[in-house]
Amino acid sequence: MIYLDNAATTFPKPIEVVNAVANAIKKYGVNPGRSSCELSIKTAGLVYECRKAVADFFEAKGPESVVFTLNCTLAINMVLKGLLKPGDHVVISCFEHNAVVRPLKKLCNSHISFSKVEIYPKNKEKTLLEFSKVVNEKTKLLVCLHASNVWGIRLPIEEIVDFAHKKGIQVLVDAAQTAGVIKINLKKSKIDFLCVSGHKNLYGPCGVGLLISDNIEKLDTILEGGTGTNSIFLDQPNEIPEKFESGTLNVPGILGLKKGIEFVNNLSTENMFKHKFELILYLYNNLSQISYIELYTDKPNFEHHVPILSFNVKNKKSEEVAFFLNSENICVRAGLHCAPLAHAFFKTLDKGAVRISPSIFTTKDNIDFLLNAIKKL
Ligand code: ALA
Repeated sequence: MIYLDNAATTFPKPIEVVNAVANAIKKYGVNPGRSSCELSIKTAGLVYECRKAVADFFEAKGPESVVFTLNCTLAINMVLKGLLKPGDHVVISCFEHNAVVRPLKKLCNSHISFSKVEIYPKNKEKTLLEFSKVVNEKTKLLVCLHASNVWGIRLPIEEIVDFAHKKGIQVLVDAAQTAGVIKINLKKSKIDFLCVSGHKNLYGPCGVGLLISDNIEKLDTILEGGTGTNSIFLDQPNEIPEKFESGTLNVPGILGLKKGIEFVNNLSTENMFKHKFELILYLYNNLSQISYIELYTDKPNFEHHVPILSFNVKNKKSEEVAFFLNSENICVRAGLHCAPLAHAFFKTLDKGAVRISPSIFTTKDNIDFLLNAIKKL
């Protein structure tokens, strides 16, 4: 199978990740921070090593800034529901994923409101102007994905954070599609809450996400329970990360993620970006020669896009095209990609789009194979 749906989850995973997960089950199958045996202490140490690797990778203050979650969606929910109070107002971009929109819709029942702003791809000034039109004295949080999971369009995060901080507003960045793709420096960018998926471009297994923040103590919990610490007290402990990590951690997932981060570090984020970007550019150039292909975004460029490209075939629903590609042994994602707002932007809500997202394992031959299949349509 030619797998071109790496924006959903990267596949295959590097062999080091596969081995680390298997090894964790075989050799570290105990509960970290719970059992009183040496192996449990050792396992807790390995989990800590991953926490440290994450903090280093994103240049956070330290391991205490890192909370392991189930996925990026949970990390986003933890910020929205742990920070916002009745009366608060939130501003989101017009590309946000349902991971942001659905919790916010629910929070509207608790007297929290939100406004959506237009993004002007490649035009930072116009985009910031849109933000400035909707913020008010009740705006507590600005939520922005770093790059659209549908269109690959990047948002000017640094400028957005600067703008928000000048107004005393905090910023949540959904880095599901950029962690491991674009360098993110938490200290320098001053992002307040960074929500990350472990199983995409960090090449970890599914079931691990990250909430990274140098001010995580600002959040209330949305989940309480056993932490293996201070068990006599019926109140949730305040120590971090325990405060936010009730229940047994996904040790195989976390040890796999550590190897995934090492894999990205070894190859370098920049080299991986370059490889995938060249493939997407090649695809774009070829698709733009085919009369029945509809492209929506400008020609991808390093500064304004990540390597994700969505298109349509004239007079065909995206699902039909994906179904045909599947019959040719090519895996893509069609439909709305859990991001109806992003589809509304390019008026593709009726038919969705066919999305191509390469990984470091994708080759030019794979893209040629896709192009040949598309020509059979
Ligand atoms: N949000 C992921 C995607 O875009 C799952 O496919």
